[in-house]
Amino acid sequence: MRVQVKSGRYDKAAEELKVAIAFQSEEESLQKLYPNSIASFPLQQLAKSAHVSGALNEAVFLPVGKQWFLVVGLGKVKDLTLDRLRQIAGTAAKAARGRGFQSIAFPLIEDSKLGAASAVAQALAEGALLSLYQYTQLKTLSREEQSKKITAITLIGERASELSSARQAADKAQVIAEAVCLARDYITAPSNIVTPTFLASEARRIAREQKFKCTTIPFAKLKELGFGGIVGVAQGSAHPAQFIVLEYAAKKPKAKVALCGKGITFDTGGINIKSAANKIELMKYDMSGAAAVLATLQAAAKLKLPFHLIGIIAATENMPSGSAQKPSDVLRTLSGKTVEVLNTDAEGRLVLSDCLHYAKRFKPDATIDIATLTGAATVALGSQAIGLMSNDDALAARITESGDATRERVWRLPLWEEYGGAYIKSDIADLKNISGTTEAGTITAGKFLEQFVGDMKWAHLDIAATAWSEKDKPYIPKGAAGIGVRLLVELLCNWK
Ligand code: BES
Ligand code: ZN
Ligand code: ZN
Repeated sequence: MRVQVKSGRYDKAAEELKVAIAFQSEEESLQKLYPNSIASFPLQQLAKSAHVSGALNEAVFLPVGKQWFLVVGLGKVKDLTLDRLRQIAGTAAKAARGRGFQSIAFPLIEDSKLGAASAVAQALAEGALLSLYQYTQLKTLSREEQSKKITAITLIGERASELSSARQAADKAQVIAEAVCLARDYITAPSNIVTPTFLASEARRIAREQKFKCTTIPFAKLKELGFGGIVGVAQGSAHPAQFIVLEYAAKKPKAKVALCGKGITFDTGGINIKSAANKIELMKYDMSGAAAVLATLQAAAKLKLPFHLIGIIAATENMPSGSAQKPSDVLRTLSGKTVEVLNTDAEGRLVLSDCLHYAKRFKPDATIDIATLTGAATVALGSQAIGLMSNDDALAARITESGDATRERVWRLPLWEEYGGAYIKSDIADLKNISGTTEAGTITAGKFLEQFVGDMKWAHLDIAATAWSEKDKPYIPKGAAGIGVRLLVELLCNWK
């Protein structure tokens, strides 16, 4: 679906449903409607009689003559942000679809706090497109369900001068939303569909379509080449692992950036098996990092971002079996460092150690890994923030900024020396893969990864707590969030 940007009088727009934005007064009752062209309408009066309050994400359908309006609350004027626009666009689009409307219009709201019309257009388009995501491939839909579909979204601006930049921004939003939804598809689809082989073939498809390079290294070859971290995790599985390397290079790149993704297509825990009590069935989402890397490369290529990007994905299951690694096994990683595997469920750091070491050969300006790495991330930050760890302050600051802008917020955790040492050193090997304490599990995992980055500028994003949403949010449906894609694309777009 294409998001259109048009100019003209809002009250005359022909879409089946027009969104009116309601602001709330300090007393928490309706203050005013936006845009002004409809504020003088009977709509204002109707909204008052319907007790519309303008509270954030309140949504009320109101007819005026033959026109249908959806009055959506944005809260108080002083609280206006781009994220609130994403939210109300999502709330409105879903409500419209639920009522069977097919075309919906939004006003391109102007306010100095929001910045340029392009930022507003991007936020509205992203919010609407992301909210409409549904994973329907595996179920039979009723006729009614099939017919409920938004087919046209239009943003209407009154100032013609800014429309071309708004149009570009809406197109960009579309590419980004498509990428996020692709990641959500990969994450939502169960592990009997999304196998390492499937991820490798998707990587090749994306690379072919966007005309960039992709190489995949299958399990047998990984064994030969000494990818001991991945092999240790993969050796218990009937589905052969795949090491996936994507390489997109623009003509005049600003920088070379490596993105490493954890692609555990199902994490049973291995011999240290998880239980129903700790929601083993959710562990299909343990490849959310890999999904974010694939989707970010697709978006970056479509947007022709001026970068040399390298996507590095370790795709494998973590299974118990007769051939699985056992707690106490020692493996030799690609870097040559040996690791005592004291818990087979701490497998993410094992596969990522090989990805990070592999990244070094590209001599990247920055390397970012993204992974559903630790349950402890939920303890530390809850589902409100991605755990960020980095050896470079400037990189960490830029990621933090992009997190704020996209509302895929990150919070930096320290990598102080004291979190290394005994927490990660083994008695019989160079490292051990668990600390054996309940302290700072997210950080000690980060410290483990740090052993494999050498002198690269590096940041680690632990998305374990944010990749799967336990509840429906305005533009993140319950389930796979597709987190990381908007954050990484924004980081690249605002690279300094
Ligand atoms: N994939 C999990 C982390 C995870 C847990 C992601 C919950 C999303 C939700 C990871 O491989 C894991 O099992 N980590 C262990 C590490 C522990 C054994 C040191 C954990 O967090 O319990
Ligand atoms: Zn695990
Ligand atoms: Zn895992």
